[in-house]
Amino acid sequence: MRILRIILATVAAIGLTSALSAADREPSLYERLGGKPAIQAVASDLVDRILLDQRVNKWFAHAAATPENASAYKAKLADFLCQNTGGPCQYTGRDMVTAHKGRGVTSDAFNAVVQDLTAALDKFKVPQKEKTDLLGIVATLKSSIVQK
Ligand code: HEM
Repeated sequence: MRILRIILATVAAIGLTSALSAADREPSLYERLGGKPAIQAVASDLVDRILLDQRVNKWFAHAAATPENASAYKAKLADFLCQNTGGPCQYTGRDMVTAHKGRGVTSDAFNAVVQDLTAALDKFKVPQKEKTDLLGIVATLKSSIVQK
């Protein structure tokens, strides 16, 4: 009986501690964006915009070739964004330097994709703070993607 009381008290204490720490900590950008479904919707809309964008779509002939290629690219982009905003996803693609090596991505092309991303975030009415935070993360990738 005594042992049972100790076990119950321990379980209650652990439950209380984890409830408090979940409430205490700042929500991640992943959570503030609305989790995986919201990130998938943004990634999907971004890829649709990129494939229609005359400024950049010549780079994406492979993704545009079949619906399966486009879906695979959307899924990789969603996992990448999910992982890099503090989400629980496992991005299994290449790192940004390797993925873009030899593609000759220009600064103008990078800026055009950032504009497409901004338009996608606006479409889903992502608030200014979350937009700024996500665009800030993407900006840090520029030197890995635009390679001289
Ligand atoms: C703006 C931020 C960008 C992010 C976060 C990003 C992210 C990614 C990711 C996660 C992949 C998948 C890598 C893999 O398959 O292992 C990828 C592939 C690729 N990226 Fe980027 N990228 C960005 C900008 C750009 C730009 C500006 C261009 C060119 C204008 C570009 C061209 C490509 C191409 C052509 C692929 C291969 C797509 C395919 O055929 O499946 N990316 N990118």
